Formats: sequence, structure tokens, C-alpha cells
Amino acid sequence: MAKVKTQFVCQQCGRVAAKALGRCPQCDAWNSMVAEQVRGQSTMHATSLPSEPVRLSEIEDGVDERILLPIGEFSRVLGGGIVPGSVVLIGGDPGIGKSTLLLQAAAAVASHASVLYVSGEESAGQIKTRAQRLFEPGDADHDLYLLSETNLAYVEEFVSQLNPRLIVIDSIQTMQHPDLDASAGSISQVRECAHRLQKMAKESGRAIFLVGHVTKDGAIAGPKVLEHIVDTVLYLEGDTYHSYRLLRSVKNRFGATTEVGVFEMGTKGMIAVDNPSEAFLSERVKSAPGSAVAATMEGTRPLLVEVQGLTSTTAFGHPRRTANGVDLNRLHLVLAVLSRRVGLRLHDQDIFVNVVGGMRVHEPAADLAMAAAISSSLRDQVLPSEIVLLGEIGLSGELRTIPQRRTRVHEIHKLGFSRALLPKSQREVDSVPPGLELIQVSTLKEALKVLQDEAR
Ligand code: TYD
Ligand code: MG
Repeated sequence: MAKVKTQFVCQQCGRVAAKALGRCPQCDAWNSMVAEQVRGQSTMHATSLPSEPVRLSEIEDGVDERILLPIGEFSRVLGGGIVPGSVVLIGGDPGIGKSTLLLQAAAAVASHASVLYVSGEESAGQIKTRAQRLFEPGDADHDLYLLSETNLAYVEEFVSQLNPRLIVIDSIQTMQHPDLDASAGSISQVRECAHRLQKMAKESGRAIFLVGHVTKDGAIAGPKVLEHIVDTVLYLEGDTYHSYRLLRSVKNRFGATTEVGVFEMGTKGMIAVDNPSEAFLSERVKSAPGSAVAATMEGTRPLLVEVQGLTSTTAFGHPRRTANGVDLNRLHLVLAVLSRRVGLRLHDQDIFVNVVGGMRVHEPAADLAMAAAISSSLRDQVLPSEIVLLGEIGLSGELRTIPQRRTRVHEIHKLGFSRALLPKSQREVDSVPPGLELIQVSTLKEALKVLQDEAR
């Protein structure tokens, strides 16, 4: 009989200890150690045949025969199709659309290669209902197999029977291997299952998509460990109250991590958005004060977004500052510069900043748009509607140049804006598109002056 061993595993970082510890010596988390029984051999110690060193020149050329994924936005984020033998982790908040996107991807791949979709969360009937919503009848019944199962040992069995080229595991937290006496979702189970699946992928050349739920702290499955095991990590982001979703790559062994896919969650699943800037600006009210357009970058992709600002006199207590879609610290910095270097009276104002469409802007290039939107709202003056703003604000009130100016400028032109207000730079923007005027300024004060002179 296999020996049963008890070990204590930190549920935060995966550290294993022989006895229970109040505080994890690795990640300093308190009370995170949970007792788990290990029976038999886990894959990590499994006795497999040793591999032998091979001369680099003798290894056959790696032919990049990717499995075609006919969803353009998804495929691009992966680096152009699915690499056989790779494991891709797709993380995101519950309800964001992971299962929907993966079912669509599974059906798309199933038109030319067999796919096994394993769900530990929904029954085959529930998946069928979802599929009926997503596809026309007869659209998805090629080589797509559904399996509602949480026992990984059975999944392994069905995999060898069906021999699929792509396997979707929804989600890794619901999977459990009977060799390990820990509950599903615990760090040991998640790690053990991921290791087994990784091994299966590498040995058989099957590609595997793992769904991973994000915990409250923002880490996939609590354990960061998963990210080391897999080849590619993608995050599906967006907020549940808006329809836009961004698929972002944070690690990719087979492609760039700068690619971003944009989708819209509709009544028939996730639809790729080909021109995101246009979509984000579609509801803009040009005649309202407090609305500015910023040219931001998502990876290598330029994206124009509307930044809104609203100021309102504080009724009592401390003035409130609310940032939606921008970093609150960034907002505080911009407000400080606005009051000290430009002289705006903001200390008795509640201030709200919002990026339209549920987008999140991480880079400082949107500083100028944020400042302009706030000042426009405070002065109750509408900003010129044909102008796009870009620039990082420094503490002395100076405007700092931003990377990838050329790409942004071309996107601004492509969307039909006639002017761009941006920081003065030593380097000229080569090839300014005809019909686009660049207004270059060196300080925030100057920039706001330009806008105010034209405001109505
Ligand atoms: P789901 O893919 O189940 O999310 P996850 O697997 O990330 O938890 O998405 C669930 C949400 O998506 C749910 O609120 C309903 C919505 N939805 C649509 O809006 N349109 C659709 O066609 C489908 C299938 C779901
Ligand atoms: Mg799901």
C-alpha cells in the first residue's frame, strides 16, 4: 500500500513544511498552513525515464505548426495560433467571460481539429444551453466533446480515448487528483493537476487551455505557482458592468507580451472589436464640459479613450477624489500640479475622473487629458472637440514626452481628429499625416491656455 504522509502547505505561496507553522517562512502570511495528506507519488517525484543530452545542431528544426484559431483577436494575443504541446492559463474575475470565450474558441478550433472541453463547474446540459446561445444549430457539432468532470484521473483516461488536439480545463481550481488527499482548489491540488496537465501536453503534443479564477488579491488561484508552470498567461479584464473586455498577455513563451485583444460581450458571446478607438468614442457628447480625448497605448496598439472629469463643491467634510479607470495616486499628483502650478482652486471641490467604457489606463500619457477634463469642468467650458491630448505631467508643471508618439499621432489622424496637443520634443515626429496639426507645448499651463483660448 502506498505510504500516506502529512505535510503542511502554505495556501498563499505553496511552501511545504513538515510541521504546522503559524507564519509562513517564505511569504510571511499568517495562519496560511493547511495539513494535506499525500498518497502515492506525485508527478514531481515520479520515476520516468531520464532524458539524454542532445547536441543543439542535431535537434530537428522546430517547425512552427500552430493550430489555427479562427478568432483573430485571440489568435494574435497568443502570437498567431495555438502552439501544440503548450499550456495556456487564462485568468480573470468570475463572470468576466472566460468560459464563454473558451467555448467559442473550442468550437472554432473544432472545425478542423478535435477538442475536449472539460468543465468542473457546469454540467454538459448547461454548456449545451450556453452553446445554443452562441452558435447557430449545426455550427459547433464538428469535433467538440464536452465532459463534466472534476476528477483529473478520469479526464486523463478520456483524453487517451478521444485523442483531442486541444483540451480546455474549466477551471483548474475545480480539478482534483485522487492521489492527493487535499480538497479541490487547495494549492497542492492546483499545482499537482497543473503539473500533470503540463506533462501530458509536453509528452503528447496536445495544447491545453486552463481557466484560472482570480482571487480577491488579484492573483490567479491564490498560488502564483501556476504562472511558473504554464507557457503562457493571459488575463481577461474589464468590469462586469461594461461590455468591453481586454485579453492581455502577461507571459508568453511563444510570442510577444505586448499584444492586446479587444472584445465586446454581447448577447451572442464575445465579439472581436476591430476598431476599439472608434467603439470607445462612440458615445461621446462633444458639447459637454469635462470631456477630453486621450491617446493611450495598450501594448503595441494605440487606443483613443474619453476621459471625463467632474468637479462639484464639497458640501461638508473632506473633499472627495474618485478615480475610475485611472490610478488614484496619479489623480492626486495631477490635482496637486493643477493647484500649485496652474493656480486652480480645487481644495473645496469633490473631484471625479472616469475613463469611459470600463477601460483602465495605466500609463501617465493620459495625465494631460485628465488635467484638461478637470479644468474644463471647473471652468464649465467645453473643450474643442477635434483635439486629442497626450502628455505626462511632471511635478514642476512641465509636460514630458511620451513613447511611441508616431503610432499615437497616426491613430489620432485615422480617427478623423484634426489636431493633437502634445509635449514639445527635440525629435520631430517624422511624417506627420496631412491634415493633422500638431500643437507642441512645454508646460501644463501653456496647454490649458491653448485649450481655454478656443473654448466656448
Ligand atoms: P462566463 O463566461 O460564464 O464567465 P466566467 O467563466 O469568466 O465566470 O460569463 C458569464 C457572463 O456573461 C454572464 O453574466 C452572462 C454573460 N453572457 C453574455 O452577456 N452573453 C452571452 O452570450 C453569454 C454566453 C454570457
Ligand atoms: Mg466559467
